[in-house]
This record gives sequence, structure tokens and C-alpha cells, in this order.
Amino acid sequence: MNLDRNSALIQVEEVYKRFPLPEGKGEFTVLSNISLEVRAGEVVALLGRSGSGKSTLLRIMAGLIPPSQGQVLSNGKPLRGANPDVAMVFQSFALLPWLTVQENVELGLQARGIPKKERRQRALKAIDLVGLDGFESAYPKELSGGMKQRVGFARAFVLEPKVLFMDEPFSALDVLTAENLRGEIDDLWNAGSFPSQSILIVTHNIEEAVFLADRVVILGSNPGRIRGEVKIDLPRPHDRLDPRFKSLVDYIYTIMTNPEIEVTTEMAVQPPVKEQVSSPYAYPLPYARVGGISGLLELIVEQPEGQVDIAELAERLRLSVDDLLPILDAAVLLGFAEVLQGEVHLTEIGRDFATTTILRSKDLFRQQLLERVPVFKSILQTLEEKRSHSMRGEFFLDLWDEHFPHAEAERQFATAIDWGRYAELFEYDALEERLYLAETTPEPVGVGQTPRE
Ligand SMILES: Nc1ncnc2c1ncn2[C@@H]1O[C@H](COP(=O)(O)OP(=O)(O)OP(=O)(O)O)[C@@H](O)[C@H]1O
Ligand SMILES: [Mg+2]
Repeated sequence: MNLDRNSALIQVEEVYKRFPLPEGKGEFTVLSNISLEVRAGEVVALLGRSGSGKSTLLRIMAGLIPPSQGQVLSNGKPLRGANPDVAMVFQSFALLPWLTVQENVELGLQARGIPKKERRQRALKAIDLVGLDGFESAYPKELSGGMKQRVGFARAFVLEPKVLFMDEPFSALDVLTAENLRGEIDDLWNAGSFPSQSILIVTHNIEEAVFLADRVVILGSNPGRIRGEVKIDLPRPHDRLDPRFKSLVDYIYTIMTNPEIEVTTEMAVQPPVKEQVSSPYAYPLPYARVGGISGLLELIVEQPEGQVDIAELAERLRLSVDDLLPILDAAVLLGFAEVLQGEVHLTEIGRDFATTTILRSKDLFRQQLLERVPVFKSILQTLEEKRSHSMRGEFFLDLWDEHFPHAEAERQFATAIDWGRYAELFEYDALEERLYLAETTPEPVGVGQTPRE
């Protein structure tokens, strides 16, 4: 393949994507000021948490949906409609069950008006490349998950796109199947027999990103934005046992668990840049239950050094990054834990919280909530101002609704209820859907607070 290295195949220029919130409540910004390039000859990983807008960005780059602002260039020309240089592999395989493997693979060629004979030959070649020789006439239901995704790859390969997009292509597969297929894709790429010039893979699996990519672009959430990129300067194939592999993974874990640190190429952790948030309801609470937070802290406190490597922790708990990170985020937000160089360790308060009596744990939790999470002070203030010391849940939900899509607002509300109840700041009556000021809300430990009548 004749590669003009460093030439940009796709350029995203200052792209924004906004979706309207229901009931005319304004707009929800999913992507903010995204600029990104995919160049010939490289594998780029787009890493971000669930909801950070990865799939939306991919769809915009594929020309399936338009940006609200900014533009996408493909081969230097502004993109109008579907991007002909791109083919996509989906997490969900997206095969048509009534067509055979061969027919599924040929489908895209048929849409492009390729004659039957050529279609057949190209499809056979693609099926061969993904190791499905002999399964041409099988139907999807006869195939295992891994084989279905092989068809997914063949269907994209057959189009010979300049850039192959993959949206979490291995995350619906079991661990071993995923590992196997990921390795084969990497082998194809390293051997120079890959049918496209570049790969853009979306993932929330840090190890996967470091294993496959030359560059990892890290997306932040709320709104989705580019936090920076990390070059994976290792010889291919990337060796997981290389100490540099591990330090890259650790560095990225640190970034992902510290939403405020700046990403630099020197892998140095910069002091946080505090963003100005107008309303306390605009700052998202990580979706974690108190039980999960204490469980995690108790596990860490049992470690000999009182600290633990995040990658190991995720593996040991059999938790996906998406499940583990919000719990860690919560622990960090509450000042119970810190993350540095991929290691979580407990703060003094965190250690105290994890080892003391339940009553004192509650006191500490309440103290940290009021000191560090402004929304709780705000909820408390609202309840105090009411003569009845109570308020409809809807009232608070509406405040979150102004900043998040409804499903997310509901999650914020549920998290706040869980935390506030545990801290005995307020009660929630689920039948009446009302919040009540906790009857004997004790004064928080060492925190100044507006006096109550
Ligand atoms: N058509 C739409 N209308 C309204 N909101 C949308 C639409 N499409 C996506 N969103 C919202 O945009 C946000 C980002 O969604 P997106 O699917 O791009 O995230 P993601 O990073 O791919 O997440 P995941 O890792 O879960 O796949 C979500 O909050 C989602 O609810
Ligand atoms: Mg997605």
C-alpha cells in the first residue's frame, strides 16, 4: 500500500454537537470544540467514559449525523453526507439474520453497484482474511459471538475504506474471544496486510487502547471534549510486559480518574485546572452507591501498602473500567482517596472512614459531603428554608434537568438521595416523592453552616 504518511485523511475542526433537551429546556452539549485528525498509517484510539460522546463523534466523522457547529474534512474536502472513505465495525455486530455470511459481507458492495462476480470475489477474499473460510453459507445464528464479529470485520474490510472505524468492537465478546480477535486484528495491521490505511477505534478499555493504538486521544465528559493525547511510542506489536506499557496504562488511568488534571505528553501530572461551574446542580455526581464506595475503601485499606494499582484492582474485582471509575471518582471527590501514577491510595480521612464505627463513618461522610460537594449544601438550604422542612423530589429533579438529559438527571437525583440518606442529611419518602430534612441533623464535624431556625 502506498502510504503518504502524515497526510490527514479526516480532519475534525472545532466541532460541537448539541441535542435539544425535552420541553424546550434548552440544549444539552454532548461534544464541545472537538478538533482531531486521523492521518494515513496510524491507529488512533478514542478513549472516554460512557456518555462522553465517543459514538456521537464517530457518527459525525462518518457523516451519518451533522455537527451543530464546525466541520469535518475528508481528504481535505468538507464532508456532505455519508463519508465514502469510512467503514464501521459496531459493538453489536449488526448482521442481518436472514442473510448468509457471504450475503452479509456483499451487502455494502451491492449498495455501491459493484457487479455480482466482483462482489463474490471480494467477499470471499474478505471472509478469508478474517479466518471464516468455510462459513460462507452459514447464517448468523449458527455463529458464536466471536465469529459474528469476524463477519462484522469482513463486511467493513470488503469496502476497502481508507479509514476503518470501530466502535467498541470487542466489548460484547467474552474476555478470551476478545483477546484473540484483538490480537488477530493487530497482527493484520502489523503485517501490513490491513485493508485500510488507518484505524480509529473507540473504547473505554485503557489496556486495549494502549495495545492497539499509536495515539490515544482522551475525551472528557460533560460536555465531551478532548483532554489531550498520549503517544504510544512502543515498537509494534506493543508488548504488555514492557514496563513502559504498564507506565502508559498507569498514566492514562491517572488521567481518567482525575477529571481535572491537564494531559501533557511528558506524562507529568499538572495541578488541576478548576472549571467555573455556575450552579451546584451542573456539576455531575459520579454514579456510585455508598456501599460501593465503602467496599472499595475497605478493600484498599487491607492492602499491605494501603494502596493498589488501578488496573489490577479492576481485574481483581472483575469490574469494567466503566463500573470501577465512578466509584473511584466518588472516593476522590469525597476526599477519601487519591490517584497517582495509576495507584489509588487512601487519605487519612479515607482510612478513618474505612476502619471506624458506622456512626463515625456517617459523620465523616456528612462532613466531606458538605465540605466538598456543593449540591448537598444547596439541597439542605432549600429544605431549611421551607417551613415544613420538606420539598417535592420533582423540584430538585428539575434543577438537574436543566443541565442533563432526563435519564442522567434521574441518576443524579438517585445518587444524591443515596448519599444524603446515608449521611443523614435528609430523608426521602419514595411514596410521596418528597425530601425531608433529617430530624436530628447533627452539626457537621468542623464545618461552618448556616444556622437553622
Ligand atoms: N440523538 C440524540 N439525542 C439526544 N441525546 C443524545 C443523542 N445521541 C446521543 N445523545 C447523548 O449524548 C451523550 C453521548 O452519547 P454517546 O453515545 O455518543 O456516548 P458514548 O461515549 O459513545 O457512550 P458509551 O460508552 O456508553 O457508548 C449521551 O448523554 C447521550 O444520551
Ligand atoms: Mg458509544
